[in-house]
This record gives sequence, structure tokens and C-alpha cells, in this order.
Amino acid sequence: MRIDIITVVPDLLKSPFEASIMQRSIAKGLVEVNFHNLRDYSTNAYKQVDDYQFGGGAGMVMMIEPIDKCISELKSQRDYDEVIYMTPDGETLNQKIANQISLQGNIIILCGHYKGVDQRVRDQFITREISIGDYVLSGGELGALILCDAVIRLIPGVLGNETSALTDSFQDNLLAPPVYTRPAEYKGWKVPEILTSGNTPKIEAWREDEAYKRTLERRPDLIKNQS
Ligand code: ADE
Repeated sequence: MRIDIITVVPDLLKSPFEASIMQRSIAKGLVEVNFHNLRDYSTNAYKQVDDYQFGGGAGMVMMIEPIDKCISELKSQRDYDEVIYMTPDGETLNQKIANQISLQGNIIILCGHYKGVDQRVRDQFITREISIGDYVLSGGELGALILCDAVIRLIPGVLGNETSALTDSFQDNLLAPPVYTRPAEYKGWKVPEILTSGNTPKIEAWREDEAYKRTLERRPDLIKNQS
């Protein structure tokens, strides 16, 4: 998968791709991530990428021209499956959306700033608008990172153990069951006996049960929305 991220603050984005799973996915050649500084596409002497909004009002708006130049240049080099805009008024990111995007080949992610982008950018170039939650960030960069992390770990070969992404919380609309590791007893606090029984079918049934109980308790909305 190739990810092109368009931003006015590339420095905010780089280090998370230099550690842990995202770094390994790049090292293994499974993912390529490129950062594009929008200011490099400004024709303005001051490298300006935003301007006052028509009609008045507080807050600057990101101009169409540098964004058009950047996206058009990328599109002239290869085809893209999605051009995603990170914005608080987009569809809220969930596991289903992460799964869908993980199947794409090339994607562009545009990070908004200030009051957002000129609406014509959204009308002309954007295929999908994503929010990471009902709160407003200073820019789309941190949202883009969360989207990349959620997507990249789903790409086959990225996680060592393929099944571990499949058993994540939300993959079957259920939260994950509790997990334990050694020692089996610590300060008198014991691991549930079933987990050390070696009875795989019973362990699976216990896990399903616990996942269901936990979801019912913490996120009953997930069970209601199952159909
Ligand atoms: N930009 C600002 N707030 C955001 C949010 N909640 N999700 C995605 N991008 C954003």
C-alpha cells in the first residue's frame, strides 16, 4: 500500500512511522508513506496556503490552488483508490472503515487546518471524509496518524501473527475478552482456571462468553447495531 499524506506540518507526522509496527511495515516493503508539504505547492512569495473566508467570519481557510497542484501532481504519477480528507464533520472512523481502507492500493490523505479547506477541494477531489471522533483537533495530522495505524496493522504480513488482527476488539462487533499471562498466580490473584486447562474448545467458548459480557456491559450499542 502507498500512502501520500498532504500536510502543512510534516514534522508532526514523521516520528510515529519510525517506530514499532508502522516502521516495520515500511521496512518490510509492505507500506510506503510519503509526506508532501503543502507550502511547497504555494505560488505565493510567503508560501501562504490559507486566506480569509469569503463572506467574513473568524478563521482562515486553506486555499484550493496549492492543494490542486499537489493532488494533480500525485494523480499524474499513478492512480489513487481514495483521496481522504481528515475533518471533524466526516464519517466517524471505526473498524469497518479501517478494514475497507486496508484493502486499497494507493491512497492520499489530506490534513485540514484552520477552518478547513475551501469547499471546492472537497467537491472536486475528495472521495471520502473521515473524522476520528466528536472533538476538534488543531489539524488533521493526528487523525491521519490514527487512521494510518488502524489501517496498516490490518495489511497481511504486517503483524507477526496474522490471527491477532482478526481477534481484535470490534472485528466481530464485540470487545475483546480479558487476557492473562504468566505467572498463573500473583499475590494470590489467580488466572481463571479454564485458561490453564488446555481444553481449547472450552477456552474458546469462555472467550466468546466473556467478550459478549464485556460488550453488553461497556458498549451495548455495538450489540444493538449488529444487524
Ligand atoms: N481535524 C480536526 N478535528 C478532527 C477530527 N476530529 N477528526 C479528523 N480530523 C480532524
